Amino acid sequence: MHPPLLVPSILAGNHARLADSAALVEHLGLPWIHIDIMDGHFAPNLTFGPGTVAALRPASKLFFDVHLMLDEPHRYIEAFARAGANGISVHIEPGYDHAGALARIRALGCQNGIVLNPGTPAEAVEPLLGAVDLVLVMTVQPGFGGQAFRRDMLPKIARIAGWRRDRGLDFRLEVDGGIDLGTAAECRAAGADTFVAGSAFFGATDLGAFTRGFAQVK
Ligand code: DX5
Ligand code: ZN
Repeated sequence: MHPPLLVPSILAGNHARLADSAALVEHLGLPWIHIDIMDGHFAPNLTFGPGTVAALRPASKLFFDVHLMLDEPHRYIEAFARAGANGISVHIEPGYDHAGALARIRALGCQNGIVLNPGTPAEAVEPLLGAVDLVLVMTVQPGFGGQAFRRDMLPKIARIAGWRRDRGLDFRLEVDGGIDLGTAAECRAAGADTFVAGSAFFGATDLGAFTRGFAQVK
């Protein structure tokens, strides 16, 4: 099992100074940053495009964990890989060739990930588990930061973690939405290892203290 990894979400950072937000994360010694991409259709919000990721790339050594909330993610995989993404995650809900898209992400030299909305059962991604580097269980409905954690997602996390253990797989199990030190501990107990935090991280009065607090999540 992977050690717990705190992954700040730049959605809650300073959109006029994204490079500064990324630098804060890097200075705290955290290796990853989460970048939410929304198209206004799959999720009811608009955020960043490949141009934003490309502009950030020379300013940061962080692993760019790019979460595509798009109706047609397969059309944008190349663009985000070229822009400098290190990991690219795509949702299971839209209809497209999921296995093909996941293979394409790896062929482009990135880690791949499959994502489930709160309303999507664990079984939807079960056939793909042998072909992914990461499974992301959304713990809010995608669209906005600052929403309340969906505690009813804990059994889904546990179910996927159980399959991982039983099959000897080693994909990361990531959670995203309403994650703070308390909910991270609950998700950890269910088997998650990769914790996206937007408002709880960037809204913390002391980022160093928050990050040290996270280190207590075992
Ligand atoms: C939600 C995004 C999240 C968001 C989480 O649609 O996918 O990554 O940044 O924000 P918080 O941590 O504030 O719930
Ligand atoms: Zn996200």
